[in-house]
Amino acid sequence: PHLDELINLYDLEEVAKRTLTAKAWAYIDGASNDNLTYRFNNRVLKHIWFRPAVMRGVRYVNMSTTLFGCKLDAPIYISPTAAVSVAGPDGELAQARGAASSGIIATIPNMASHPLENILDATPGRAFFQLYVSNDRQQSEDIVRRVTASGKIKAIFVTVDCPVVSKREADERAKGNLSSVNPYKDSSPVATAASRKGPPRGGFARQSGQQVDPSISWSDLAWLRSITDLPLVLKGVQRHEDAVKAMELGFEGIVLSNHGGRAADNAPPAILTLLELHRNCPQVFGAMEILIDGGFRRGSDIIKAICLGASAVGLGRPFMYSVMYGQEGTERVVDILKDEIKTCMQLIGICDLFADASPDYLVTSEVDH
Ligand code: FNR
Repeated sequence: PHLDELINLYDLEEVAKRTLTAKAWAYIDGASNDNLTYRFNNRVLKHIWFRPAVMRGVRYVNMSTTLFGCKLDAPIYISPTAAVSVAGPDGELAQARGAASSGIIATIPNMASHPLENILDATPGRAFFQLYVSNDRQQSEDIVRRVTASGKIKAIFVTVDCPVVSKREADERAKGNLSSVNPYKDSSPVATAASRKGPPRGGFARQSGQQVDPSISWSDLAWLRSITDLPLVLKGVQRHEDAVKAMELGFEGIVLSNHGGRAADNAPPAILTLLELHRNCPQVFGAMEILIDGGFRRGSDIIKAICLGASAVGLGRPFMYSVMYGQEGTERVVDILKDEIKTCMQLIGICDLFADASPDYLVTSEVDH
């Protein structure tokens, strides 16, 4: 179908399911074990209700914000997803260009399908970079120095929720190759190892995770600080104690995330972790940027997170599916979300998202225990 016919993100998902190879679909859609966390990520959001306010004069609304010095037209960023070209040849390049033309920001994945320098070249202004700390620390250090020197990267997201590869059963079962793309070029710590050994089993995820260092711990922050002066964001926080620890150690931000349900199954949907922060450590909200991802598919989902103090919301799978349509696909996803955010703001009586949104607009009792 033509892009104009896709009126929400579920339509796009449906097209991806019908169009991509079974192997590609299994890699992107797949999650851990019973997919419980994956399914509940989105479902739980639907059990948070609004308390719309009327008579607020909502003709004009503002949803722009600033994140790590980057002005965003909407509080949306592209979450890092490995090997984006599995869904379309331009992969990360389409994300970089589409993010720029849409006034949002992309996160370049460590395990990219295009060489890092090509993605940076396709990035007009700015991006975030996602790092997996590799067993080969020198390789991680080299890539951190390259992205820092580029001047385009505004924060480094260090992913810590997948120290080992989870059990991705759909991915392991799916037969066949991941199309003709050759994922994991030189920007990846797995490039050489993966191409040398080939997949140990059917699972693409299992192949990609091999080089991630499971020994990473809090004490590695000092090493990261010594090789870059960029803001550091801990991606994959799933309990309030770790949010407090990240704040105390001086991380500039955290991402509340369960890796789209691809890390520990039965880990909580991140919106529940956000509520846990409100109950247990409200001091973290002023101290660092609180980002969130997992299951956000509607403008209204995004507004709920902003009402609960999130600085911005990331989307992973939708921006993989969108590269089936190249840069325009990325733009279409952002257009749909901006339109949904705007309409929802008007319907619930919020004119200025970051000045006005608060928990007062929500009923969370169905999910908040
Ligand atoms: C991911 N995610 C991810 N995260 C990360 O830090 N490094 C990575 O390489 C990847 N790779 C990856 C591949 C695929 C196919 C998916 C779907 C996800 C997790 C990603 O950043 C994000 O946390 C989730 O995708 C958010 O959930 P939704 O929006 O996909 O529901």
